[in-house]
Amino acid sequence: MAGDAHYEVDGSVAVITINNPPVNAFGFDVRRGVIDAMDRAEADSAVTGVVLTGGGRTFSGGADITEFGKTPREPSLADVNTRCETMSKPVVAAIHGFAFGGGLEVSLSCHGRIATADVKLGLPEVKLGLIPGAGGTQRLPRLIGPEAALDVIVPGNPVSAGKALKVGILDRIADNDLLEDAKAFVRDLAAGGMPTALRDREDKLEAARQDPSGFDAHAAKLTRKAKGLEAPHACVRAVRLAIDTPFEEGLAKERDIFIELMNGEQSKAQRHLFFAEREANKVPGIGKDVRPRAVKTAAVIGAGTMGGGIAMALANGGIPVTILEMSQEAIDRGMAVIRRNYDTSVKRGSISEAVRDERLARLSTTTSYEDIADCDLVIEAVFEEMSVKKDVFGKLDEVMKPGAVLASNTSYLDVDDIGQMTKRPADVLGMHFFSPANVMKLLEIVRGKETAPDVIATALALGKQIGKVPVVVGVCHGFVGNRMLSARSSENEPLLLEGASPSDVDKAFLDFGFSMGPFAMGDLAGLDIGWRNRKSLGQTAVIFDALCEEGRFGQKTGKGFYSYEDGPRDAKPDPWVDGLIAEKAKELGVNRRSIDATEIIERTIYPMINEGARILEEGIALRPSDIDIVWINGYAFPVGKGGPMFWAEQAGLAHIVERLEYWHGKTGNAVFEPAALLRKAAQSGQSLAAAMADKDGQA
Ligand code: NAI
Repeated sequence: MAGDAHYEVDGSVAVITINNPPVNAFGFDVRRGVIDAMDRAEADSAVTGVVLTGGGRTFSGGADITEFGKTPREPSLADVNTRCETMSKPVVAAIHGFAFGGGLEVSLSCHGRIATADVKLGLPEVKLGLIPGAGGTQRLPRLIGPEAALDVIVPGNPVSAGKALKVGILDRIADNDLLEDAKAFVRDLAAGGMPTALRDREDKLEAARQDPSGFDAHAAKLTRKAKGLEAPHACVRAVRLAIDTPFEEGLAKERDIFIELMNGEQSKAQRHLFFAEREANKVPGIGKDVRPRAVKTAAVIGAGTMGGGIAMALANGGIPVTILEMSQEAIDRGMAVIRRNYDTSVKRGSISEAVRDERLARLSTTTSYEDIADCDLVIEAVFEEMSVKKDVFGKLDEVMKPGAVLASNTSYLDVDDIGQMTKRPADVLGMHFFSPANVMKLLEIVRGKETAPDVIATALALGKQIGKVPVVVGVCHGFVGNRMLSARSSENEPLLLEGASPSDVDKAFLDFGFSMGPFAMGDLAGLDIGWRNRKSLGQTAVIFDALCEEGRFGQKTGKGFYSYEDGPRDAKPDPWVDGLIAEKAKELGVNRRSIDATEIIERTIYPMINEGARILEEGIALRPSDIDIVWINGYAFPVGKGGPMFWAEQAGLAHIVERLEYWHGKTGNAVFEPAALLRKAAQSGQSLAAAMADKDGQA
């Protein structure tokens, strides 16, 4: 049974308590329970008002999303709302903890809302590719006006109690005892005459009805960053219904939009990601009994691109950090970048000056290892060279207190080898952040052969504390993300030589849903990094190398695969590059032809999926959904496609295997040789996860 609702009368006030731990989701029994309790309060002549509240630690987390996609059971959440709203006695929602999604929608159908000062309110449906589907898009605009409603519904972010009071979502904030204050509130309402239910209020809509241009402009601004997702636009359409249509009609149309989205590909993908992120926290051998070590202080070695960003991420999460560098000049350079980044955030209004100063105050610097010896955690972000890492870990092993966690931010190097440079490999792991590390959500936690379970638990807990999305991966060259990226990039140069232009390839990626294609991305990151790396390894890449030899390193030199004479955001195809490609193709005797977007995707995205399957076979990633989480949070894979492995299953594994075989035959490139797991799943019609679990199944 999915919870219920408890009924109790105190004098003239009935108190209905939602009881469905842990988050009081509005499952079937809660919906029925609340309606029954409202009926009871309606019928009880001694009762003049009702308080609706949540038992346990919160009001309600909203709909029971395990019911999504199943046959709906009556009464619906909309029925609950109608029942609350059409009561002949005032109903007050008394909110503590949080009221999200359907939870907030139910409170909107009450006649008043009071909350504790630390409450969080929100309509996060957009993050699951949906709109609020139980009247939220019709009631909220009637309560706070349509533009303010967009601010809540389109981004889907939580709103604090103070903000909610200011915009009018809350009527009151409780002084100390929420329930007593709520009873007093409902008595006030009962004494002062029944307040108008939101369904009957039009006053906040008048201005937009007269002239909706302000609303439309505001909506356009909010959806500018929708990145190909339908739901933010659908939210706008639904809120506009509040302006354009009568309440009941608006409710019905809101429902239609909700159902259409629920059945669509994007919401399916986004709901997959919602569960995938939770699943990623489950790591074999790291149960609840494994307690993370306390991390009260941290050190970061290296104040370059990554070290600076990692130090910021830790400081932003409330952890004091000591940054260790080789020289005072390096410290000054690194700190100047950090200060500039914080100042930019202040200028943009994303943090206040006080918050900036608080964060900066958590950062200290040193050139001496003695100063970091007592830190609970060290993250090394020095040059990507084994000899340098070896030197650093040797010193850490000498000075660090016993039990300190020693992490490397290496992109490719063997974390087991790094662990062996110390006498305490059980304390060593990889914590691989992504650039810019203070912004990007992904944290690959690299588990070495000897890494202790509580060290992994510490990294998981810390990752969450500083707002990252941690995924535990195994040791291999490039771990999950970079290893798949190199498979994706393997055909970049052949595609150019055979006839595609950089902008053809980039356009295929944009049409697929990426916000940037690989060549524009290369120009942004700097082509010289890979060039130097290839030179040190004795490798070549004809076109990439030729560009670098010309000093075309990308945006930073004004030219790369594109030219940027009108600024870094304005990439223009460059005939010089086309000429270079044609010349190199001729030298190599490659016949050029026109290459379409389908071929580009098959030769880039399919090998990357194939590499993902190999990574699963080797146990480097625990589950296909972990790979999706890596690619969504670290490499901007289009959210609406749910990650590469989810997308592959939607596109059809058999089709992907068939195309991989085709390209393998044609190019001989090993990246196309289908992984055994992929073949097995394709042949048996199983999902990748099922094929992994089915150890005895024959390929
Ligand atoms: P960087 O060159 O910007 O910074 C390295 C910093 O380490 C420099 O400031 C240097 O002075 C300092 N350093 C070098 N040796 C040192 C030593 N022995 N003791 C103290 N400080 C020392 O390099 P970046 O890009 O920050 O990379 C650092 C690490 O992070 C590398 O392992 C890299 O593979 C990894 N990484 C880089 C990413 C990126 O996008 N740049 C992404 C993820 C990981």
